Amino acid sequence: MIVGEAPGRKETELGRPFVGRAGAFFTAFFEKAFKKHRQELYITNVVKVWPRINTLRGRTRPPTKEEEAFFLPYLKREIEAVRPKVVVTVGRTAFNALSPGSEFRPGEWVKRPFDFSIMPVYHPAYILRNQHRFEELTGDMKKALVKVKRRLRD
Ligand code: URA
Repeated sequence: MIVGEAPGRKETELGRPFVGRAGAFFTAFFEKAFKKHRQELYITNVVKVWPRINTLRGRTRPPTKEEEAFFLPYLKREIEAVRPKVVVTVGRTAFNALSPGSEFRPGEWVKRPFDFSIMPVYHPAYILRNQHRFEELTGDMKKALVKVKRRLRD
């Protein structure tokens, strides 16, 4: 299961998660690392509506704590229904929603007794914004996804 932060403009237009610039970048990346098509994974977001600033076209802003808290029960129900072995949290918001109080360490497993393990990874928009660290960040992302792939095989 993949959990992101919130849909953006494109996701809202198409009604699907991870189809905008950052989402498509991440999707292409994990399809390559996992050798799995996105349709084989359950992909969702913590916040279910586009956190937007009301300019003419709309601009993306980070979701508020209230929005996160409002939608968290829905995410928990999704997890109960899907019963994933691993949840990949994409970016800090998704990680903090599912593991409040833990330090965000991309690439390091967070093991939880009795349910799923969490693998935090960088948010793709963060990688795209930090082109000077592109090799390093995509290298880390790949290592994290390889760990997940191994775990799914066990
Ligand atoms: N697309 C999404 O739907 N969510 C994210 O967190 C990033 C891109």
